Amino acid sequence: MEASVIVGTLLLLASALPLIADAEETHYHEFVVQETPVKRLCRTHKAITVNGQFPGPTLEVNDGDSLVINVINRAQYNVSIHWHGIRQIRTAWADGPEYVTQCPIRPGHSFTYRFTIQDQEGTLWWHAHSSWLRATVYGALIIYPKRGSSFPFPKPKRQSTLLLGEWWDANPIDVVREATRTGAAPNISDAYTINGQPGDFYNCSSQDTVTIPVDFGETNLLRVINAAMNQELFFTVANHKLTVVGADASYLKPFTTGVIMLGPGQTTDVLVTADQPPGRYYIAARAYASAQGVPFDNTTTTAILEYKAAPCPAKGGLTQPSQPSFPQFNDTAAATAFTSSLRSPRKVPVPANVDESLFVAFGLGLNNCPSAANPSTCQGPNGTRFTASMNNISFVFPSSFSILQASQQGIPGVYTTDFPATPPVKFDYTGNVSRDLWQPIPGTKVYKLKYGARVQVVLQGTSIVAAENHPIHLHGYDFYIIAEGFGNFNPENDTAKFNLVDPPMRNTASVPVGGWSVIRFVANNPGTWVMHCHLDVHITWGLAMVFLVENGIGELESQEPVPVDMPVC
Ligand code: C2O
Repeated sequence: MEASVIVGTLLLLASALPLIADAEETHYHEFVVQETPVKRLCRTHKAITVNGQFPGPTLEVNDGDSLVINVINRAQYNVSIHWHGIRQIRTAWADGPEYVTQCPIRPGHSFTYRFTIQDQEGTLWWHAHSSWLRATVYGALIIYPKRGSSFPFPKPKRQSTLLLGEWWDANPIDVVREATRTGAAPNISDAYTINGQPGDFYNCSSQDTVTIPVDFGETNLLRVINAAMNQELFFTVANHKLTVVGADASYLKPFTTGVIMLGPGQTTDVLVTADQPPGRYYIAARAYASAQGVPFDNTTTTAILEYKAAPCPAKGGLTQPSQPSFPQFNDTAAATAFTSSLRSPRKVPVPANVDESLFVAFGLGLNNCPSAANPSTCQGPNGTRFTASMNNISFVFPSSFSILQASQQGIPGVYTTDFPATPPVKFDYTGNVSRDLWQPIPGTKVYKLKYGARVQVVLQGTSIVAAENHPIHLHGYDFYIIAEGFGNFNPENDTAKFNLVDPPMRNTASVPVGGWSVIRFVANNPGTWVMHCHLDVHITWGLAMVFLVENGIGELESQEPVPVDMPVC
């Protein structure tokens, strides 16, 4: 395999010699996962990082390039790395979610991910996909256009990546372990961060606030990534307009807005022109908190857009940056105004008919305390334990084999193929749901898809416990979001709203609070692909399912052989 890749690359290089600009490259990286002292909010923590960097290294590639990343685990936790949004065509084994496509990399072990970027351009990212390690184990993955081609907009003078994160003044692994023990919601975070820094509005932080320099008149491409664990965020730049040009590594029809909203997992590329009086302006993010009565971190993280010609105040020191203005925390109208403005730049090949139609009702739940249980393990509302589900199945990750390994080797007992295409009981999903429907059934259920099937999924949020906006992420695919709305999806009226012309393509859909989104994709990538809420607290509770896409005909429609050094459980 490797030899043929090398030979293939050599041939390609040889044939491409006269047009050097077209050569595709292979990028080699070593990711050492290790404990590193990181000082934030006045205290030093031993955070898990990659190569001692927080955030981790930025990967920069061109479309068509390959990545080879040797992950060496020197930390005390199991780890695996997911390349969020990379389609991993025929290389599902390199996708990274633990117990879905691989067993975790044990402490002291290593594993090499190898994959090729195919027809994707823009901003993606990578993160740990094991417990809550991604709180500190994440970084940007920037895909430039193929060598020799360019952006579909005038080339910006500068490009800056802004990773929005979430920081606990504690070990995040302890935070989730405590929640799992007690059955209660995990503690909310203590800060948001931009490129790892909370910024001026937090204690002991203003010295390290991130600064983005600009020259007056120039246009900067900001690549904004929501790497927060559990919170949708509004993002803005004081006094400046944002021209949205891409999301989740797909281009968009450009439009201008003052504020954007990103769910965890989502990325948005915006152009910002430095057309204001030279000075300092806050770049800022804070919560979009869609659920009523649910506690959230209401702090604001900032960086500074700094004009190089900014006048110095007479007595030295720097001028106070201009303040950002935000919608209210619960301003769903502002969030929806943004998500419903996204369009592909031109007519796109959305499947007009579908072979598989799923209706997935998903949301939270509360399990009654098992009769023999210690009450300290049932500290959810009224002595319950939090749970979450899709079509009433609360997903349980396997522990002795990955689903991919079990499917390829025919190992029985790891999963079943009966994930239901519709909710087992129909109810008023966004209404006042009977308590009988609050306790889902645990299970490791997958849904099988034939290679090439055209798939539609209605993602229907429920109001069980609390209705809220959920960022639903599908591995292995980009999908078109052909409609979204509030209340219960109604096939009679709502199919008329389907946009089969220029819907946006994404890998993570922000399903409106108390509402629904409809997505379509063609299942042309074999493998085991998890679809889950990207609020990590919800994955912890089981808000996930897996699509098992079968091989098609011939080598090009089949998964590549799994490498022999795959970690074992
Ligand atoms: Cu970015 Cu399964 O996650």
